[in-house]
Amino acid sequence: MTLKGFALSGLAALALSGATALHVPEQQQVPIGVDSKVQGLKPGKPLVDSDALQATINSKNLFARAKKLWWLAHMSKEEYNHPTRVIGSKGHLGTFLYISQTLGTLGDYYRVWHQPFTAVTGYVSESRLVLDQSVAQHAQPMSLTPPTKNKEPVHGNLTLVSNDGCDAGDYPALVSGNIAFIKRGTCPFGTKSELAGKAGAVAAVVYNYEDGPVAGTLGEPSRHHVATFGLPGEDARPFVQRLQAGETIPSIAYVDSVVDQIVTRNIVAQTTQGDPENCVMLGGHSDSVDAGPGINDDGSGSLTLLEIAVNLANFTVNNCVRFAWWSAEEEGLLGSYHYVKSLSAEENRKIRLFMDYDMLASPNFAYQIYDARNDEHPVGSQELRDFYVDWYTRQGLNYTFIPFDGRSDYDGFIRGGIPAGGIATGAEGVKTVEEAAMFGGEDGVPYDVCYHELCDNLQNLNLTAWEVNSKLVAHSVATFARSFEGFPKRAVDDITLAASSAKHDAYEKKAKYRGSKLFI
Ligand SMILES: *[C@@H]1O[C@H](CO)[C@@H](O)[C@H](O)[C@H]1NC(C)=O
Ligand SMILES: *[C@@H]1O[C@H](CO)[C@@H](O)[C@H](O)[C@H]1NC(C)=O
Ligand SMILES: *[C@@H]1O[C@H](CO)[C@@H](O)[C@H](O)[C@H]1NC(C)=O
Ligand SMILES: *[C@@H]1O[C@H](CO)[C@@H](O)[C@H](O)[C@H]1NC(C)=O
Ligand SMILES: [Zn+2]
Repeated sequence: MTLKGFALSGLAALALSGATALHVPEQQQVPIGVDSKVQGLKPGKPLVDSDALQATINSKNLFARAKKLWWLAHMSKEEYNHPTRVIGSKGHLGTFLYISQTLGTLGDYYRVWHQPFTAVTGYVSESRLVLDQSVAQHAQPMSLTPPTKNKEPVHGNLTLVSNDGCDAGDYPALVSGNIAFIKRGTCPFGTKSELAGKAGAVAAVVYNYEDGPVAGTLGEPSRHHVATFGLPGEDARPFVQRLQAGETIPSIAYVDSVVDQIVTRNIVAQTTQGDPENCVMLGGHSDSVDAGPGINDDGSGSLTLLEIAVNLANFTVNNCVRFAWWSAEEEGLLGSYHYVKSLSAEENRKIRLFMDYDMLASPNFAYQIYDARNDEHPVGSQELRDFYVDWYTRQGLNYTFIPFDGRSDYDGFIRGGIPAGGIATGAEGVKTVEEAAMFGGEDGVPYDVCYHELCDNLQNLNLTAWEVNSKLVAHSVATFARSFEGFPKRAVDDITLAASSAKHDAYEKKAKYRGSKLFI
C-alpha cells in the first residue's frame, strides 16, 4: 500500500506521535438544552429532505473515506505487525482523530463531545485444556478470562456442577481444588466463573447445551473469576455421561492471559439546531478487532455516518440529530453501555430512537433488518423496523429479518428503555440458497468471509450494498430530522420499567450476545 495521495496532515502527525498528543475536552455529560440561536448557522439553507440527502450519497465518496481508514489502520503495524484499529492502537487513535477533525471542519453545525471511559481488554497468548489425557481441541478460552494460577497448568478432577450453575448451591464441595464443569444457560458465563471461583475451583469449563462451540466472554472482570473455557456440546456429552456414572476424569487447564484496562473515547456530535428535547440518534463503532483493519466492520457504518454528518450540514433540521461513534464495541459493546448508563432519566427521554449501523457493505451481503418488536422491545422499535421495510420495498429490493439479540450497540439502548433498531449486511453467518436468489452472491459462503480477520480490507466491501444502505441511513436521518409524526412518543415510565419489567427480563434471556461473543 503506497501512502501517496494521503496528505500527511496535522491529524496524521498527531496520531503518529501517540496518545500523549491527544488533547480533547474531557466531558462526561451529554448536551442539555443546546442554544439554538448559536452563531454560524447561515440563513438560506433548505430544510433537510430525504431525497436531497440521499442524492448526496455515492459509493465513490464512501470508498475515498475507506481508503483513508485503511491507511490509518496501517499506523498500527509497528506495534501489531499488521493493520488494525483495535482500541489502544495508533490505527484507532487515527480513526478517532479523523472523525473528530472532519466534524471540526463543519463549524458550529455540530457540538462535539469526546466521552472518555475505561475499557477492559483481554489477550490470551496461550491456552490448553486436557480432559483425561487428551487435548480438548475445540475448547476455547473465554474472552477476558484470567490466567490459571501463576500462568502455569493446573491439575484437578473434572467436577460436574448441578443444574445450570447459576446458584452457589449448585457447586458441590468437591469442586474445591478441581475444575468445575458447568452447563451453559440461564445466567452469564461471568456469573458461573465467579461462583466456580468462590467454590474454590482452579478453573472452569462451560459446556454447550446444544451442538456447536461456545465462543464466550466473561464480561466485566471479577476478582473471583477463574480461568474459564467454553466447550462444544458434542465434545462435552461423553464426559457428562462418564461423570454421571461416577468416573473420575483427571484434567489439566492452562491459560496465559492478561486483562487490562485502557481509557478510550466515544465521539458524540449533535446538531446545534433542531429541537433538543426530541433527538434522533444513530451510531456505528470506531474500533476494530485486533486481528485486522475492520474496513467493513465497522469502517462501513462509521464512515456512512461521517459522510452523512458532512452532507447534513448543508441543511437545516427541525429535530436534533445526534451521531455517535462508539469505542470498544469489539470488547463487548463497552462504549455504548457507558453512554446509556451515563444518561440521566431526563436526557434518556430526549432520545426518541436509536439506529444502529454496524457492517453495511459485507462482500456476500444480504439486506438485513433487526427484527425489533414492540412486545419485546421498547415501543417504537417495531415502527423503526417497518420504516426500513418500507424503504427496501419501495426500492424493489429484498430484505430479511435477523435476530435482535445483543450483537451490536443497540443493546444498551434497548436495556435503557429506548426504542432501537437498525440494518446490517451479515457477518460470519452463511448465505442460504434462498438468500442467494434474493440478493445475488454465493450460497454456502459467509456474508463476510473476512469477518474479524486480517482480510477485512478495501476489497472486503460490496460498494453496491454500501451505497444502497447509506442512502437508507440518509433517509432515516432526514425523515426523523424533519418530523417524528406518527412515531410513538417515549412512554413516561419506560426507563423505570426498563430495569424491572417482564419485557426486560424476557429480553435478558434472549439477548445471549455481548457484541460478537456469547455472554449467556
Ligand atoms: C481426584 O480424584 C481422585 C480419585 O477419586 C482423588 O484421589 C483425588 O484426591 C482427587 N483430586 C482432588 C484434587 O480432589
Ligand atoms: C454544501 O454547500 C456548499 C456551498 O453551498 C457546497 O460548496 C458544497 O459542495 C456542499 N456540500 C455538499 C457535501 O454537498
Ligand atoms: C427478490 O427475490 C426473488 C426471489 O425470492 C428474486 O426472484 C428477485 O429477483 C429478487 N429481487 C431483486 C431485486 O433482487
Ligand atoms: C456487489 O454485489 C452486486 C449485487 O450482488 C454484484 O453485482 C457486484 O458484482 C458486487 N460487487 C463486488 C465488488 O463484489
Ligand atoms: Zn461491528
